[in-house]
Amino acid sequence: MANSMMDQDILRVLHSEEEIHARVQELGSQIYEEFKDRNPLFVGVLKGCFLFMADIIRACQIKSEIEFIAVSSYGNARESSGNVQITRDLGHDITGRDLIVVEDILDSGNTLYFLTQYFMTKGAASVTIVTLFDKPERREKPIKADYVGFQVPNEFIVGYGLDYRQQYRNLPYVGVLKPEIYE
Ligand code: PRP
Repeated sequence: MANSMMDQDILRVLHSEEEIHARVQELGSQIYEEFKDRNPLFVGVLKGCFLFMADIIRACQIKSEIEFIAVSSYGNARESSGNVQITRDLGHDITGRDLIVVEDILDSGNTLYFLTQYFMTKGAASVTIVTLFDKPERREKPIKADYVGFQVPNEFIVGYGLDYRQQYRNLPYVGVLKPEIYE
C-alpha cells in the first residue's frame, strides 16, 4: 500500500496491520470458547472501538448481538478529565444480558470503571472487558480487562481507531505519534 501523508507524523510503528490481525484472531477464538453456549451482547465504546469491533465480531463466530455506546472524558485533551459523559446511550435493554464490552484502549480506567458500574446498574448479568491495548502504567481506577490484545508503553499512540484530535483513526497500524505534532 502507498505511504500516506499521515505516515510522516509517525515516529515508529508499534504494531503492524498483520500483527494486529493475528492477535485479534487469537482473542476471537478465546472469546468464542468462553461464550459459545451463551448469547452475549457485544457493546462497542465509540468512537475508538469501531475498527476493533468490526474485526473482533468476525473473529468470533458465535450467535450474538451488537450495540454501541459513546462516551467522552477527554475532549481534545491528552489527560482524562475523570468526568465521563455518555454522549450516546445504548439502544437495548441489557437486563440479564452477558455483555462483552469492546474498547480500543484502557488507559486511566476512568471510562471502563464508570461503564462497568453503569451496566451493572442497568441490570447486566455480567460484564466482560475486551481491550485491544492496555496502558497499565496510567491506571487511576481499579479496573482490569479480561482480554487484552497488547500491553503498550506510556507513549502517545494513534491508528486502528485511536486518534489525536480526531485524526489518524484510519491508519491500518498503530504507531507512536511524533511529539512535535502534539507539543
Ligand atoms: C478513549 C478510548 C477509551 C478511553 C480510554 O476514548 O477510546 O474509550 O479513551 O481512556 P481511559 O481509560 O483513560 O478512560 P476518548 O474519550 O478519547 O474518545 P474516542 O473513543 O471517541 O476517541
